[in-house]
Amino acid sequence: MHQIVAKRELAPAITRFEVEAPRIARKWQAGQFVILRLSEGGERIPLTIADVDRERGLITLIVQRVGKTTTDLSNLEVGAAIRDLTGPLGTPTHIENFGTVGAIAGGVGTAVVYPIARALKEAGNRVWTILGARSRELVILAEELQVVSDELAITTEDGSLGYRGLVTDLLREWLEQGRPLDHVFAAGPVPMMQAVVEVMRPYHIPTTVSLNPIMVDGTGMCGCCRVSIHGQTKYTCVEGPEFDGFAVNFEELMARLRMYRPQERLALERCQAGKGGGRSRLK
Ligand SMILES: Cc1cc2nc3c(=O)[nH]c(=O)nc-3n(C[C@H](O)[C@H](O)[C@H](O)COP(=O)(O)OP(=O)(O)OC[C@H]3O[C@@H](n4cnc5c(N)ncnc54)[C@H](O)[C@@H]3O)c2cc1C
Ligand code: FES
Repeated sequence: MHQIVAKRELAPAITRFEVEAPRIARKWQAGQFVILRLSEGGERIPLTIADVDRERGLITLIVQRVGKTTTDLSNLEVGAAIRDLTGPLGTPTHIENFGTVGAIAGGVGTAVVYPIARALKEAGNRVWTILGARSRELVILAEELQVVSDELAITTEDGSLGYRGLVTDLLREWLEQGRPLDHVFAAGPVPMMQAVVEVMRPYHIPTTVSLNPIMVDGTGMCGCCRVSIHGQTKYTCVEGPEFDGFAVNFEELMARLRMYRPQERLALERCQAGKGGGRSRLK
């Protein structure tokens, strides 16, 4: 059992938790995640470790309510406990001094980009960050990213804060202005990561994306998280979650993410109606 020691609403439907997990906090490196289960027989879901406090043995999780399990988690209060937390999982981000890096964050993907941007800054990189959201109230971690970025630009689709448009609109402008980028890291919704890759492709600047397929065991056994990279099957939970963006089959990833929509919708409806609804994808 892992007790929740702090909880804060960062934005509508986005909640930040600090959770007791001393062993995971000790071992964590940027880019890694946990798989959690709220109850016996409950669904297992992956969440990025957005930060750790090694002295206090805490990990930070930032969760967006999208379905049953993320709703149940978001409803937990300080003092409640998460039944199982497995991690840290996944291959840590490859960090080196690339020179100038672009850190491109979309929506709750900002929770993934923040620790990576910080590690890149600590390794001596110049970090230019673009943080995108649909509107002002959905922008998260702006203060934290400001501290670790040489430049932070915020984009909102409705223009309520910063640059009006998509992260890719500003990224394209930067490239057309001739800004020198040596590497780009992107995390966010799959269509956004695919769009970043298409903007970067003509420039041949290495572009790493953090993929978010459905996961179950997190150990490379079940095959649920498989993605195609250069036409070869890879297991995101052990060989990822980060891959060369130019090599990812995004259409296949999106199709696999849509596979359980009817079951996910039913599980959420049952949850909202107070009927439980256990394992949304595994019934
Ligand atoms: C390595 C990794 C790290 C992640 N880190 C975070 C994080 O830090 N914060 C966070 O809020 N979410 C994160 N996710 C996504 C999170 O795991 C899903 O949102 C969650 O599993 C949904 O569970 P649910 O039962 O609430 O919703 P479900 O009922 O399972 O799904 C509801 C809706 O969300 C969509 N969905 C389901 N799974 C995913 C997914 N993996 N990615 C995108 N959309 C999905 C479904 O298509 C459906 O429309 C991460 C995913 C991966 C693989
Ligand atoms: S989640 Fe089962 S193989 Fe990756």
